[in-house]
Parts: sequence; structure tokens; C-alpha cells
Amino acid sequence: MSKRFQAPRGTFDILPAEAERREATYLVAAELFARAGYGRLETPAFEDTELFARGVGEGTDIVHKEMFTFTDQGDRSLTLRPEATAAICRAYIEHGMHRLPQPVKVWSWGPYFRHERPQAGRYRQFHQLDAEVIGSDSPLVDAELIMLLDDLLRGLGVPGLRLRLSSLGTPASRAAYREELRAYLRAREGKLAPEVRERISENPLRAFDSKDQATREVMGEAPLMVERLDQPDAEHFAEVRSLLDQAGVPYVLDGTLVRGLDYYTRTVFEFESEALDAQAATLGGGGRYDGLVEAIGGPATPGCGWAAGIERILLALDAPEPEPLADVFVAAPSEQGARAFALVQELRGAGLRAELDLAGRSLKGQMKQADRLGARRAVILDDEGKAEVRDMTSGEQEELDLARAVEALSR
Ligand code: HAM
Repeated sequence: MSKRFQAPRGTFDILPAEAERREATYLVAAELFARAGYGRLETPAFEDTELFARGVGEGTDIVHKEMFTFTDQGDRSLTLRPEATAAICRAYIEHGMHRLPQPVKVWSWGPYFRHERPQAGRYRQFHQLDAEVIGSDSPLVDAELIMLLDDLLRGLGVPGLRLRLSSLGTPASRAAYREELRAYLRAREGKLAPEVRERISENPLRAFDSKDQATREVMGEAPLMVERLDQPDAEHFAEVRSLLDQAGVPYVLDGTLVRGLDYYTRTVFEFESEALDAQAATLGGGGRYDGLVEAIGGPATPGCGWAAGIERILLALDAPEPEPLADVFVAAPSEQGARAFALVQELRGAGLRAELDLAGRSLKGQMKQADRLGARRAVILDDEGKAEVRDMTSGEQEELDLARAVEALSR
């Protein structure tokens, strides 16, 4: 027997019903971004590996173990993009976008790739909706971005939403804080999970992410970065919070919030839904990255953004009732197939969703099919070139003047 192929582990096919739900989400997002003045920017599905290594950070799980990296025929190391921000900053630099009026506001939608352990809401190819504002350090930007994602998730009807908010300060204040946290962890090394202990030097902040009970107890008492902000960072953060308060956006201040990417400075945030499993409850997250553009070779430029996982948003939402697939079904005995075909083309040309039998069904079978497609009306052609129209809900049937079919069926 020949091999049966399946979609690779951690990937999935998007079947028509699911594609429709995605499209609906996409349209809500597109409308929201259009109103807020964001332009669309799409980058390639793969980039120079070093862009992500430098941008996202060598010490992160993403770069460390989750990237799909390959060498091409020209011996270049390339990586399927695990996220959008580094690539969008690369495009900002490459196209000299710092010469445009600042800030530059863009959004994008597409597939991303991470070699993670698959589970509900965690895939190896997933889709993100991403927003970035590059070229302004104003707290207004942070607040606007957070409110856009809040609007989007509320507008879609995501249940049990929770927004966690924190500030990570600047690299200088964070370096001092990291030393303090390292000392705190080393003094309690015996109580820490092995994987946390191993990373005290490299990335002590990740200890806040640990699921290990004893580690969590230690972290419950640990010093927090948000309590160690210097004056300008503290003021910036206070301004972001005040803008959210004024706008009535609810959030939880959470000093234990750490993001899985190294480029963040100042504001960071995540939206979760109670409707999702704890291991994959984050619908979207982001924050400010004032050092990223410079770190990948551009002029010193502040930035802020977020990404939301499309699969997680759809998981958190109840599947809606399926929409009817047709307005009109044109039924005809097989000898009249060509007339049915021509009428369907005419109706579609006039903007109606029209269908006909494509499977050699009897007239009775065709009416059943019309029902399955949810058609509101069926046109029944007879052998004499006449036609009747049936209201599929009431069953009422009357003669149809084919010369005025579009007009009659558009009502
Ligand atoms: P992130 O937190 O790594 O941030 O990903 C954002 C969202 O993408 C997550 O909250 C989640 O919904 C979704 N996601 C991530 N990995 C997976 C996966 N394996 N399967 C399904 N969904 C997933 C970023 O990517 C940053 N670039 C966000 C950002 C933009 N920060 C500033 N600008």
C-alpha cells in the first residue's frame, strides 16, 4: 500500500468553514486599522537567521530551540520567521522609513513558524495579526496600541478577557535589577527547579514563568522590575496607565509579567482569555522596543507593537451558526442543464449567490441540495422553457418571468 500523507505535525489545513471565520476576523481587524491610520506592511516568510538571533535575542527559547532554520543553495542561513517585529524593523531600515513623517504605523497578517510542542492553541505554523508603531516614544502610542487590541478582542466577542500590564524599564535599569534578582535567586538556589537554576546567569527573569510550585513560592517574594524603574521610565509608565484609566480600559498591574522576546523596554502587556487552557491562554501580547531598530543596524528609533494569535482568538470564540451558502438555487431537469447554467451566471453577475446542481441529481435531489445550501429561493426550470420560483421557507411557489429573473430574485 502506498504511504498516506498527513499535514506535518503541528500544522493544519484550513477548511472552508474555518476559512470563513478567519476572513470575518480579518475584516474586523482591517476596518479597525483603517480607522486608526495603520497601513499594511508584509515581509517575506523567511529572513536572514541573524536578524532573529540579534533581534529576538540569543537567550530566548524562540531563538534557542524553536526556529526552523535551513541553509539555502547559496550557503546562506535562513529562518522561517518566528515573529514579525524584527522583520518589520528590518523593512523600516531597508526602505529608509525614518525619513517619512514619524511615527510609521503598520499592521500585518500572516503565517509564522515555531518548533514548539503542539497542543490546543500551540502550533508549528500559526497566524498572527501584528501591529507596530515605529518612531515615537510617546506613551500615547503604547495606550493607542493596547486600546486597539482591546477593541478588537471585545469587538469580536472574546469572553473572559484579562489584560496584564507592566514595565520593564530601560536596559540600564534592567541590568541593575537583573543583578539584584540573580543574587536573590542564588541565595535560594536549593528551592528552584533545575531548569530555572541553570538559567540564573543567562536569563533570571524567566524564573517568573516557571510552573514549578516551589519556584513559584520563591518568585512570589522576589523583587520586581516595576518597583525599580528610574524616574523617566516610572513617569512614562504612569502616563500609559493614566491614559488607559481615562479610556476605561481595565487592566491588572502585574510585575511578574515577562515576555518571551529580549527586545522589550518599558511597557509590556498580554491579553488572556479564561476560555482558553492555561498553557495557551495568551491571545496576544507586546510592548515597547526602543532599542531594537538600532540593535539591527538602524538609527536609534523607538518602537512599540503587539501580535495576536488568530488560532487562539478563534478557539476562545464559540463557532457561529454556519451562514447560508446560496441565495438562489436553480433546479432543472438534466436536458435543461445548459439553461440553468446560463441563468446562474446571469444571477451571479448581478451579485446574487446562485448555485446549480453539479452532481446529476434528480429534481427531487436538487431541491434537497437547495435546502442543504440554505438557499432562500429555488428557481425550477421546466422542459417548456418556463420557470417557477419557490420560497424555500414557506413552500409557496409562483410563476417567474425569466426575462425579469434578476429583478424578481433580488427582492
Ligand atoms: P508573542 O507573545 O511571541 O509575541 O506572540 C504573540 C501571540 O502569538 C501569542 O500571544 C499567541 O497568541 C500567538 N502565538 C505565539 N506562538 C504561537 C504558537 N506556537 N501557536 C499558536 N499561537 C502562537 C510576538 O510574537 C511579538 N512579535 C509581539 C510584538 C509585536 N511585540 C512588539 N511588537
